[in-house]
Amino acid sequence: MRTPIIAGNWKMNKTAVEAVTFSNEIKDALNQIEGVDIVFCPPAINIPGVAEAVKGTKIGVGAQNMYFEESGAFTGELAPNMLTPFCQYVILGHSERRAYFGETDEGVNKKIKAALAHNLTPMVCVGESLEQNEAGETQSFVSGQVKAAFAGLTAVQAARCIIAYEPIWAIGTGKSATVEQAGGIIKTAVRDTIAELFGAETAAQIRIQYGGSVKPHNIADYMAHPDIDGALVGGASLKPGFVELVANAT
Ligand code: 13P
Repeated sequence: MRTPIIAGNWKMNKTAVEAVTFSNEIKDALNQIEGVDIVFCPPAINIPGVAEAVKGTKIGVGAQNMYFEESGAFTGELAPNMLTPFCQYVILGHSERRAYFGETDEGVNKKIKAALAHNLTPMVCVGESLEQNEAGETQSFVSGQVKAAFAGLTAVQAARCIIAYEPIWAIGTGKSATVEQAGGIIKTAVRDTIAELFGAETAAQIRIQYGGSVKPHNIADYMAHPDIDGALVGGASLKPGFVELVANAT
């Protein structure tokens, strides 16, 4: 059985003080919710403070990005072993990183391998644009992103990853994908592609989240779909209502 996982991607929000205050505000309530893994992904500079705040709770900590090299002349980047004292997870290939910061499929693939080598669980993001969706290219594009991201991995490595299907048109827009849309693509373009690459057993093990305008009122609908194992939540993870969202997921 796949344990559902709800992760909050805080994106570029909350100062150090705000991040710790918010973590302290909601951690006890979240800690009591059983049957779901919970992750906070604050901005990098706030990771140590948030990790300290949630210490002793069930809440995990993730980074929003990471570089694949071990160290060196890469101004502004963070190496895997800089995250591991604080993080168990790392979001890789978010559509905002791909769109605004030039992330490529090849780079995402290297980052996944580096994360796994350091025992970090990658949360690998895939998802199509509105134009691709309207052109009927969703299936082939998302499946291609999964193939590129997972190239060269073993089945055991693949099973350790989490994939987040986040249609770009649903992110921050309030226009969430319907359960049928999200669950359909997660099944046919994501899980079936993992089956094609690594076999049915790996496909049955890997956890796949939906992301894009997930709110306290719609999370239960997504969770009812047999192929959706949780959510990557943006805006709604920044507010105290995140507790209700996570509770509604179980
Ligand atoms: P929203 O929940 O704000 O739509 O953001 C989704 C997202 O991009 C999470 O990574």
